[in-house]
Amino acid sequence: MTQINEPRRALVTGITGQDGSYLTELLLDQGYEVYGVIRHSASRNDWRMANFSSRVHLLSGDLGDSSSLVRALLRSRPHEVYNLAAQSFVPTSFEQPLQTLEITGLGVLRLLEALRQVAPEARFYQASTSEMFGQAREMPQNERTAFHPRSPYGVAKVTAHWATVNYREAYGLFCCSGILFNHESPRRGSDFVTQKVATAAARISRGLQSELYLGNLDAQRDWGHSRDFVRAMWLMLQQDEPRDFVIATGATRSVRELCQVAFEHVGLRADDHVTIDPSFVRPKEAKQLVGDASAARDQLGWRPTISFDAMIEEMVDAAGERLDGFSREARQGRKAELSGS
Ligand code: NAP
Ligand code: GDD
Repeated sequence: MTQINEPRRALVTGITGQDGSYLTELLLDQGYEVYGVIRHSASRNDWRMANFSSRVHLLSGDLGDSSSLVRALLRSRPHEVYNLAAQSFVPTSFEQPLQTLEITGLGVLRLLEALRQVAPEARFYQASTSEMFGQAREMPQNERTAFHPRSPYGVAKVTAHWATVNYREAYGLFCCSGILFNHESPRRGSDFVTQKVATAAARISRGLQSELYLGNLDAQRDWGHSRDFVRAMWLMLQQDEPRDFVIATGATRSVRELCQVAFEHVGLRADDHVTIDPSFVRPKEAKQLVGDASAARDQLGWRPTISFDAMIEEMVDAAGERLDGFSREARQGRKAELSGS
């Protein structure tokens, strides 16, 4: 039973990822007690948790292991569960389709079933994606647009999405699916195109590399900022009734335009450095995605606040600071070596 003044508790899977880190900061700011599920790794991937790792409870768990999910729910006794864990990189899903379906798809069913059995009162957020629209039937895409995924990742996310809807309808659980379009930040993983381009622009401007190899420059995405998008996740679980929402900026930019913004920020021309490498072109993909987030605007009062250009510039600056930090550390290390200390 909830005691008066008892803090609200949230369980976050994927806490070591981009969105997990920003969402946790938001929840801590709101006074939540935050529990994060982390999977075992030989070398822990915890750089994104630097701001808050001493203020959260970390529980060992994996979306592939039901018993660990039940244990995490029993230990955290959450009011809210945010499922952000996934194999989230589309090209890897072509190389490891079964593992992607196992974690990104069936993993969600495992978590929902654990929730139903041991924490049915908790509110549940599922990280759905615009990749489910894939070969989109209409522009822009909204909550009623049919799904036509173009990757094993998209197929796995459709499975997870319908499982979430089904647990809401069949068992009356408070389950919401946020259909989020691409969102980025300085904490984005290094393989995703925005981080790849931002890091290359910073490196080329410092003379550390000269070429950037990319796949489809004409692909268009609706790119927002992760810090804005995690706010929408939280808002969804504060509503009176559970439902699904599209979260997007409504503007679409090409990979080519992304390169122009990033390179211009460091005084360079993208055309002088970008080369197409067919190995980065995908077997099939969503060519253009653009979302209609009017339901989120009207019902959640949600709006994006950070522009595409400002976000890419922030990413290029952050990549540069990381590089300068590394070379400072390396210089200090060399100095210490030479002086024998
Ligand atoms: P991310 O940076 O790739 O983070 C994924 C997280 O999932 C990491 O913490 C990872 O842990 C964890 N994870 C992977 N496999 C796991 C497993 N078997 N068991 C437990 N945890 C596991 O992704 P993100 O960009 O923050 O995205 C968060 C969620 O939103 C994902 O579900 C993604 O598919 C979805 N989404 C993202 C976007 C976007 O544009 N960013 C858009 C729509 C939907 P490790 O650190 O151990 O690898
Ligand atoms: N990664 C990558 N690398 N993408 C490239 C490259 C390259 O060298 N060259 C062109 N692209 C194009 C891809 O073909 C795609 O059209 C676009 O850049 C964006 O690719 P990613 O940044 O890898 O993201 P994504 O759109 O495939 O998937 C992301 O967004 C989804 C939401 O729509 C991921 O975060 C997914 O987890 C998320 O669900």
